[in-house]
Amino acid sequence: TVLVLDFGSQTSHLILRRLRSLNVYAEMLPCTTKLANLTWTPVGIVLSGGPSSVYDEGAPHVDPAIFDLGVPILGICYGCQELAWRINDKNVTRGEAREYGETDLTIHKVGGSNHVDRLFEGLGDSIHVFMSHFDKLVRLPEGFVRIASTKNTEFAGIAHQTKPIFGIQLHPEIYHTYRGTEILDNFSTKICKARQSWKMENFIEKEIIRIRKLVGDKAQVIGAVSGGVDSTVAARLMKEAIGDRFHAILVDTGLMRLNECQQVKETLQQHLSINLTIVDAAELFLSRLAGVVEPEAKRKIIGETFIDLFEKEAIRIEEEAKNTPLSGKVEWFLQGTLYPDLIESLSWKGPSATIKSHHNVGGLPARMMNGQGLKLIEPLRELFKDEVREFGRQLGIHQDLVMRHPFPGPGIAIRVLGEVTPERVEIVRKADHIFISMIKEAGIYDQMSQAYAALDTNRVIKANLTVLGMIILLRAVTSADFMSAEPFEFPFDLLKAIVRRIVNEVDGVSRVAYDCTSKPPGTIELE
Ligand code: XMP
Repeated sequence: TVLVLDFGSQTSHLILRRLRSLNVYAEMLPCTTKLANLTWTPVGIVLSGGPSSVYDEGAPHVDPAIFDLGVPILGICYGCQELAWRINDKNVTRGEAREYGETDLTIHKVGGSNHVDRLFEGLGDSIHVFMSHFDKLVRLPEGFVRIASTKNTEFAGIAHQTKPIFGIQLHPEIYHTYRGTEILDNFSTKICKARQSWKMENFIEKEIIRIRKLVGDKAQVIGAVSGGVDSTVAARLMKEAIGDRFHAILVDTGLMRLNECQQVKETLQQHLSINLTIVDAAELFLSRLAGVVEPEAKRKIIGETFIDLFEKEAIRIEEEAKNTPLSGKVEWFLQGTLYPDLIESLSWKGPSATIKSHHNVGGLPARMMNGQGLKLIEPLRELFKDEVREFGRQLGIHQDLVMRHPFPGPGIAIRVLGEVTPERVEIVRKADHIFISMIKEAGIYDQMSQAYAALDTNRVIKANLTVLGMIILLRAVTSADFMSAEPFEFPFDLLKAIVRRIVNEVDGVSRVAYDCTSKPPGTIELE
């Protein structure tokens, strides 16, 4: 395993992805991790980039023990400055202007069989790279030689003369450093001699063994499923590991899309043989939401209702299991947390209090953990979304589900602006069904990351009618990680055809608008 120490750059996780694309297994931990706390020894260490300056008060610094391990080290951007600064703080200067963008890197070969040439081996004399930095090295740290430079950065690449320690100012993990993966390949497989054994099948086997060990042969596990790819894959894996001691719970909130509950039931119960309970709570959710218009209040009510129902289910499952072969206590709560969610909360700055906070349906695990003493089990915590999809395919989950767009826990409630009534939910459900069906028929569903219909609070006039009708808002975005997003560019004829059908077929709707806002400044959902 290669250890990536994260100094908080937005592209740190891409280092992991590039390494995994080389089948090299890597894990990322906060840059302040104490090596003494690690239970494993890395074959090499990468120090990522980061937004700070090594001179800042409170700037993050790495545990000096990494230099005593004797394993190869690669510092990227801030990581490179950190290496140089550790040796002598005069080696780095605070930048005055930011160097940002693409440039050409000249590679300086030392020649002979010197190890310092190995980082850029096979890359020729010059490559195109992406740079983004304020500070830079102004002199070579003691014991180092220069291995690369650019027009503006004299020491864009450095290597220790005798030890396998390298620093580069460029970002090999970013797409625009077109040959960046080769640099990471040289570092991980040639210099660190990391094994290229990271494969999905190995991961599945390893995870099943881990789950069995963790849960033991008596305890029971419960988990919420939504029909989305993460919870379905996590549930399928639990089924594989502990059979019917895993209980999947699907809450019908009355806020799901057309036929959604039925489809989830068929997939999980019939195709994947998962032990599933459906809790019909549509009336409960809608009655608790009556008259509520504040987005945060809606989320809170929904989150708490979910928890109330889960608490009841956990007790029921334990009661029912008494005197059966499944008589163990319900000790674990399954969550489909992915790596990007963890990265956010692992960052040295602490959890960023932004988007992810609402991802757990209003603090679901926290109260479950405290109230019931349940422990959290997160089998997907090392994976990225595309890896979960691949994983899902290997577990025999249908392609349609594997590629399904995300759907938020609070469901249509956060897509009905203003009050959530059964009638208004129904209008969104119908419009959404037309929108998504037409996107699928046009064969472009997989080209976008998420699409949905929502309902505005205002009413407007429709030709020939005196009553005011409602306004449907359509949103479709492309996004790499849901942290930022761009509006999907529909063929205009298709968009007009979608609008025509919605206005004609959904009673009470008089206008349809397509939202072209990017994120940021917008968000993907409207509330
Ligand atoms: P935003 O609107 O924050 O959405 O740009 C980013 C992603 O998160 C989903 N989302 C939620 N998921 N509960 C969820 O389970 C929520 O309350 C929630 N709010 C947003 C959203 O659908 C998108 O994929």
